[in-house]
Amino acid sequence: MSTYVSRPAAGPLAGELRAPGDKSLSHRALMIAALAEGHSELSGLNGGADVEATGRMLSQLGATCEVTDHKALVKGCGREGLNESDDVLDAGNSGTTMRLGLGLCAGLQGASVLTGDASLRRRPMLRVVEPLRSMGARIDGRDRGERAPLFVRGGPLQGGALTTSVASAQVKSSLLLAGLKAAGTTSVTEPSLSRDHTERMLGAAGVRVSRSGLTVSVEGGDVPLPVEWNMPGDVSSAVYLVAAASMVPSSRLSLKGVGLNPTRVGALQALREMGAHIETEPTGEEAGEPVGTIRIRASRLQGMTIEPSSVPGLIDEIPILAVAATQATGETVITGAAELRVKESDRIDSVVAGITALGGNAHALADGLIVTGPTRLAGGIVESFGDHRVALSFAVAGLVASDEVTIEGWECVATSFPEFSASLAQVGAAATGKRYDGDGS
Ligand code: S3P
Repeated sequence: MSTYVSRPAAGPLAGELRAPGDKSLSHRALMIAALAEGHSELSGLNGGADVEATGRMLSQLGATCEVTDHKALVKGCGREGLNESDDVLDAGNSGTTMRLGLGLCAGLQGASVLTGDASLRRRPMLRVVEPLRSMGARIDGRDRGERAPLFVRGGPLQGGALTTSVASAQVKSSLLLAGLKAAGTTSVTEPSLSRDHTERMLGAAGVRVSRSGLTVSVEGGDVPLPVEWNMPGDVSSAVYLVAAASMVPSSRLSLKGVGLNPTRVGALQALREMGAHIETEPTGEEAGEPVGTIRIRASRLQGMTIEPSSVPGLIDEIPILAVAATQATGETVITGAAELRVKESDRIDSVVAGITALGGNAHALADGLIVTGPTRLAGGIVESFGDHRVALSFAVAGLVASDEVTIEGWECVATSFPEFSASLAQVGAAATGKRYDGDGS
């Protein structure tokens, strides 16, 4: 296990940098390229372990998919379709790889076994498995298909009108990918809008996609065109730097080339409502996604209420918003976020444990948490619970604490943001450091 020591910032954060490639987009870009007829070129890919797992899975399913140094050359399987793998597909820690992968495997002629690490094997899968079964896929696994390892017998699928039980982009995307291999139209209706990357990117790759309110539809038999895409920066990773610059006095930062999809930028809006000075400037579009620059200046923060309806747009950013709330005056109340309990860790309990360990004031609700501030956080030891978003959030907490914050289980940041400490150093937080214990893995 490795640890990371985050030291109080010695001065303001200042400068200009790029966030790592968007993880959600990188998974989808690889998958769309693997389904396309012909050669695709991708660049700016997220360099984390989750996206690597997707690349490996697609190679095992017959696409030629070489991912090196944030770039990929992919020869898609096109009309012939993906093939059965002769080995187990291991999604590692990545829910997106597994859930979207289930949609891909449902539509191929053959058998697939999907598994993941201990965290992923605990996470709920029936939300994807049930609607895929209703399309004709035969899927089984532990707890009747709720938990991996999962076995999929793919084959002819039938489109239709499907309704998802949760506003989950992973579920929606899985069904849309399966829908490309199904007979007729596949329509997916969700309870509220989750991130809409799959539909935008499929559309940008020439697939017929239509939307009406909360329903999105694809046509069976459509095959994506090959693409040349450069991934925008990941707003979910950028938010650690945005929050850090908001909290460390006198900071000024610019983050360039960040994805600004309206279904993903809820955390920027929440921080603004807390009083943060954040400007966004659109600069273009890539893969059907808006891209731009984010500029941040430090400011005083106030508590706020995050309503359930806003949660899908900032679900991954709640840990860092909770850390920011420790520095805000008054109460920050987050509800309607029970999904946090089934992420890479139980993020409600992980975040409350971390804030409490540093002397902050947070308590858990069944579906969210309440943080009361401002508190001058003390130094201390925080457990990551193997969850990259928890580890990164408390690394930011260390910048505004009175003493060192040690994060145990730091290796999990490899999931999404391996460059985090280098990025912080680039903007002047040179007082942070890394220390390895044990085998240093
Ligand atoms: C993701 C969707 C979200 C998010 C996850 C990535 C995606 O999960 O939390 O980190 O790429 O589709 P849910 O679909 O479970 O909400």
